[in-house]
Amino acid sequence: MNVLWSKSKRKSIERDVEMKIGLIGTGGFSRMHAGLLKQIEGVQIASICGSSSAKAENMAAGCKGAAAFGNVKKMLEAVKLDAVYICVPPMAHGDIEKELIQWDIPFFVEKPLGNDYELPRQLAAMIEEKSLITSVGYQFRYMQSVYQLKKLLKDHKVGLVTGNWGGSMPQVHWWRDQTQSGGQFIEQTTHLVDLLRYLLGEIREVHAVYGEQIIKEKYEGVTVADIGTVSMKMENGIVANLTNTCILPEGVGNIELVFYTDQGIIKWSPKQLKIITAGEEKTHYYDDSGYLEQSKTFLQAVQTGNRAGILAGYADAAKTQKATCAALESSRNGLSVVL
Ligand SMILES: NC(=O)c1ccc[n+]([C@@H]2O[C@H](COP(=O)([O-])OP(=O)(O)OC[C@H]3O[C@@H](n4cnc5c(N)ncnc54)[C@H](O)[C@@H]3O)[C@@H](O)[C@H]2O)c1
Repeated sequence: MNVLWSKSKRKSIERDVEMKIGLIGTGGFSRMHAGLLKQIEGVQIASICGSSSAKAENMAAGCKGAAAFGNVKKMLEAVKLDAVYICVPPMAHGDIEKELIQWDIPFFVEKPLGNDYELPRQLAAMIEEKSLITSVGYQFRYMQSVYQLKKLLKDHKVGLVTGNWGGSMPQVHWWRDQTQSGGQFIEQTTHLVDLLRYLLGEIREVHAVYGEQIIKEKYEGVTVADIGTVSMKMENGIVANLTNTCILPEGVGNIELVFYTDQGIIKWSPKQLKIITAGEEKTHYYDDSGYLEQSKTFLQAVQTGNRAGILAGYADAAKTQKATCAALESSRNGLSVVL
């Protein structure tokens, strides 16, 4: 077994020395992150780990110089990595993170942190104990539209927020299975819950109503709700309501938050910010996705040891997970859940 690469050595990486990155998961989003990493100077995708070596080899063929593995431990023993990207489905978390924590390897992990709250709660404590650098895939926090929105909200008193996440059902096999994905609110709408927390503070109480209306009839093996609405009361008294659905046809969808404030209405969607005040309406347009900025920020933190730029670390993201899992509990027992 190779000697652990110490934190102090990691911090001393020179700018002209390539950072070695490992990717875990070989699906759609691992490939998306691999594409971004290839655009970042000074970064090498050194290894790929899949649920089988064959899958990892297939993906590694497109990443020059990357070694392929079917087991995380074997990958860490064989390659000295500066950081790892975890891009696996919600039910596959746990052992991967524990292994990385044991090896002191900083990691970026895609949202959601799991399909429940108990595991992220435990992992957050282990990460805290090691003071490990982590970043979670809440890329909306890095978008220009959200940066401007956060600035704008400083001058507004918000009373009410409404929001929607509407789309079609993702076709990856695990998504439709409640025990694997956790359902849409945990899996996708988590982005909006995370933005509420990032922009307005902590959530105190949630009440959810979910239903099954259409996709069960269209697809085999569906156990997730396909419609739902979640009302939230925040610590500062703001009331928010988010709806989500995955019943829409492919190519139709909306993601938005609407803020009702003492000065008017602010409508946010990822690429647009509309400000409506008495007698005036202004719309601003943006074209970034937040993904590249998110990755660069994480890698810079790993390189310098300064994590101040990371907008969603593991402990923070675990609070978002707590709220989305509380919504699931509420949808099941019909009662409000206080966080
Ligand atoms: N931030 C975003 O906006 C965004 C967008 C899409 C997906 N995601 C997230 O990315 C994650 C992955 O989604 P995806 O679309 O790539 O799914 P996918 O099904 O396409 O890929 C998942 C991959 O993980 C692999 N895998 C599962 N368990 C593993 C294990 N123990 N070790 C190694 N590999 C394992 C599978 O074999 C598969 O290759 C999900 O949590 C999803 O929510 C985030």
